[in-house]
Amino acid sequence: MSRGAAPDSDTADEAVRGTCDDASICKRFAVSVGYWKDPYIQYFVRQAKERKAPEINRGYYARVQGISQLLKTFLRRTQCNCQIINLGAGLDTTFWVLKDENLLPVKYFEVDFPAIVARKLYNIKSKPPLSKPIMESHSGESLLIDAHSLDSSRYSIIGGDLRNPKDLEEKLKKFGMDTELPTLLIAECVLVYMTPEQSSCLLKWATDTFSTAMFINYEQVNMGDRFGQIMVENLQRRQCNLAGVDSCQSLKSQMERMLRNGWETADAWNMMIVYSNLPQGDVGRIERLEFLDEKELLDQLLLHYCICWATKDALRLGLKEITF
Ligand SMILES: C[S@@+](CC[C@H](N)C(=O)[O-])C[C@H]1O[C@@H](n2cnc3c(N)ncnc32)[C@H](O)[C@@H]1O
Repeated sequence: MSRGAAPDSDTADEAVRGTCDDASICKRFAVSVGYWKDPYIQYFVRQAKERKAPEINRGYYARVQGISQLLKTFLRRTQCNCQIINLGAGLDTTFWVLKDENLLPVKYFEVDFPAIVARKLYNIKSKPPLSKPIMESHSGESLLIDAHSLDSSRYSIIGGDLRNPKDLEEKLKKFGMDTELPTLLIAECVLVYMTPEQSSCLLKWATDTFSTAMFINYEQVNMGDRFGQIMVENLQRRQCNLAGVDSCQSLKSQMERMLRNGWETADAWNMMIVYSNLPQGDVGRIERLEFLDEKELLDQLLLHYCICWATKDALRLGLKEITF
């Protein structure tokens, strides 16, 4: 397969930042149809001009519910005495949703490129439904906010580059990251935009830094087949290079990357299996929302994404037993 000429690094990073809008616009559309509830996404992203296809909505439903299920199991296992670091969080709303459900960890961190963080902060500052929950969960001195970061007692957002874990660590520590606390790291459609060396470096940094931790990675899989190649080519047309595609060849390659970088256990399920393991009552409900013409296309999509999760568990909290 020809990979074409690589875009220069600024153009490439700009295209990667653009994927943040794609994800949140699709999520907002699926929420507006009723796939799941998220009262906060409307404050970050405009409604899509056109309808999204039902298979896209179901794919996002599986992604959001799948990650949420593992995340909540982690919160229960640690009794919320933990921290969450959402890597490449984009315009994610999990902090606000967890607060409503009384499930906040000790601290929730988000990291993304400074330009994305600046946009997210603009929305937080100008929209009370977003700023109020942060203020309500804050105690002590006045909270710190500048153009590219915000630090409060329970929520921090930091502008940085995940390809530079040392700088990231410094920033996280400045904002109170506690390496002794059980830590959940989430990368939702993020690692694929980094080279295999860069994502390995980030995964290794995490195992070197935390002794009790879990990593949830959602991204592409089975990218070596024809459907996978078409996905890569479609993104390349928009100057967006899937630099990490070589780590997305199979569930095995996903798990091996985790184990090679110091994680003690790793598991990976494609989204077809995740979808069939979600609570079937709710799956039945969403399947009645819209008529699905392209069942085969949905199956193909679900087969080309996966959730890979990995643990290390010095405190013996039973993290390795976490599954769907
Ligand atoms: C596809 S979006 C996903 C956003 C969010 N995780 C979600 O699923 O809604 C990928 C995100 O990763 C961020 N990202 C990719 N590479 C990054 C890097 N090297 N440093 C910081 N953020 C990065 C992008 O800016 C973008 O917000």
